[in-house]
Amino acid sequence: MNSGKGRLIVTVDGPSGVGKTTLAGRLAKHLGVARLDTGAMYRGAAWALGARLMEMTSEQRASRLAGLRFDLRGAGEDTQLTLNGEPLPPEIRSETVGLLASDAATLPEVRAFQKAAQQALGREHDLVAEGRDMGVNVFPHAPHKFFLDASPEVRAARRVDQFKAMGLPADLEEIAEQMRRRDVQDRTRALDPLRPAVDALIIDTSLIGVDAVLSAMLAALGEGAGGSY
Ligand code: DC
Repeated sequence: MNSGKGRLIVTVDGPSGVGKTTLAGRLAKHLGVARLDTGAMYRGAAWALGARLMEMTSEQRASRLAGLRFDLRGAGEDTQLTLNGEPLPPEIRSETVGLLASDAATLPEVRAFQKAAQQALGREHDLVAEGRDMGVNVFPHAPHKFFLDASPEVRAARRVDQFKAMGLPADLEEIAEQMRRRDVQDRTRALDPLRPAVDALIIDTSLIGVDAVLSAMLAALGEGAGGSY
């Protein structure tokens, strides 16, 4: 798949709860490359800067961000993202850190830092890169782009299942409301709002399972199902 002109980069964008992380992991496994979970990078940076990050000056934030280094190891679903050599802690998955990450993601110095870090990882590794602005902003020249979407009800229900699987408390109404707030902010922010790239294949995952979505993605990549997933 690598044309020799550069690294293989496949982008997978969309809001939370559409199955991005699962599908990016499965696709990366099939292709034998790393998955880059850029949501985890935003969450990890927000967690590292702390709950008061929105009260800091831009200079304070930029200098704290300069001390952060993300690295990738492994491939597929087993890809490990590290921050300054350490795995990211499970608490980055809480909706509190998600909202803080979404707030931080509106700031120019945070987006500039993340874009540079993500592009540097894309120079070192073949990637399936998942997030909000992979196809439009970070890897605009990627030859294969996907945008996943699903109804708000399905997304909230999936989020509840994920939280339960992690042993975290999960109230459907509360999670649906937090997702709605985060969605509005991610879709309407001035800088790199969530939107599909013009050349992305848009897939609604509301009514189809992971295997069917993966088949559609592999077909678009010209890989065929191959029976290996
Ligand atoms: O995908 P996630 O829910 O883990 O992402 C957490 C937040 O990070 C999301 O609400 C917005 C921000 N984010 C972003 O702005 N750009 C990305 N490429 C990935 C995440």
